[in-house]
Amino acid sequence: MTLELPSWYYDIAKTVLGFRLDSREARLSTMEKINQLRSMFFDENAALARTCKPYLDDEAFLRAYFVYFTSANLLKLHRPLQEWAANAAPPNPLRICDIGCGPGTGLLGTLSWLRSHGISVPLDYTGVDRSGAALRLARKTADALIRIADTPAGPGSMSCDFRYVDIHDLPDRLQDSFDLILMMNTLNELPLEKRHAFLDRMSPLLSPRGFLLLVEPAHRIASRQLLEARDRLADAGWTVYSPCFFQNHCPALDRERDWCHAEDAWERPAFLRLIDHHTGSVKLTLKYSYVLLNRHGETLASRLGLMNLERVVSTPFHEKGRLRLFACGTRGRRLMELNRRDLSPSNKPFKKLRRYDIAVVEGTAEKISLRKVLKDSRVERIEPGPVHTDGEV
Ligand SMILES: C[S@@+](CC[C@H](N)C(=O)[O-])C[C@H]1O[C@@H](n2cnc3c(N)ncnc32)[C@H](O)[C@@H]1O
Repeated sequence: MTLELPSWYYDIAKTVLGFRLDSREARLSTMEKINQLRSMFFDENAALARTCKPYLDDEAFLRAYFVYFTSANLLKLHRPLQEWAANAAPPNPLRICDIGCGPGTGLLGTLSWLRSHGISVPLDYTGVDRSGAALRLARKTADALIRIADTPAGPGSMSCDFRYVDIHDLPDRLQDSFDLILMMNTLNELPLEKRHAFLDRMSPLLSPRGFLLLVEPAHRIASRQLLEARDRLADAGWTVYSPCFFQNHCPALDRERDWCHAEDAWERPAFLRLIDHHTGSVKLTLKYSYVLLNRHGETLASRLGLMNLERVVSTPFHEKGRLRLFACGTRGRRLMELNRRDLSPSNKPFKKLRRYDIAVVEGTAEKISLRKVLKDSRVERIEPGPVHTDGEV
């Protein structure tokens, strides 16, 4: 799967920001702020500053955020949504609440995903944030999506509501129920001691078959904190739908140096390549951690009707004639290997597996923490996806 920004995104960004993403102005006016945002997001010592400050209230930061971070983050919804909608048609209408919506990243990402599948369901979107400036930009984004021809939201097919609410006042300030609650790159901005209590209070906002999707940056601290939240929610009766096929505590938390993240290939747009070049950063792939949870007991494996599913959780690596990777399945995380001499037509898909791919792996030789893929083992890569309303998968 190689992700790409949809062509309409460029028109939306121009309308909302007042300049073209590939213009010199976009680059020159945002580069310094992008650098400051990057160190705020990725420098562990700056985490506290980020937690306390509504930094997106600063217009210059907000524009820089849109140009660099929204443009990449919106595509990070594709894989989780693909799994959320596996073997099903999305609810009609689709009611989404985007908590910590910023300039409307979740709205753009959802529309981008729906359109990439040709799905047009009426969308009822509520964005919540504590930054007035971010909410105003999100409103502009929504209006542009509705107004501009050739964008995914035709008149009447989308209604958007933006609320100025502090997350800590949820769910009391929202009375609705949602099919999907999104929270992207926001959990790590909440004080640690309040996160778990807050997440557990989200269940009244979910429809009976609703889902909570948490997406966080792929760096060690944010990702591990997400996994801790996952474990706490699973202990409190939530079901981990994906990416895990394992409901017990996450094995990545056993060792302080481990964490778990997806990594998607993308066509890095030319404007972002230039910004990377000038700022010394490199967004060659899209990395992020996510967890999809629900209260009704459904897992991705049960939705697909498949057993023995494994999620590749490392980059595959070659060692002395063997291809190795770590995979996490119903029995937790284990090393898998295929010796070059055992390569056969039935196990050949093993060679093509990439980080976060899903596979059925059968007929392996099992040792305590190693699964050897044998000549007659069967390996099949699984690609979950939605059923279109016309019945086509
Ligand atoms: C890194 S931005 C993420 C924006 C967007 N979801 C994305 O992924 O691009 C974090 C957002 O969370 C919002 N936020 C942080 N703490 C909040 C709080 N206590 N209440 C409401 N919003 C909050 C910030 O204002 C900001 O818009």
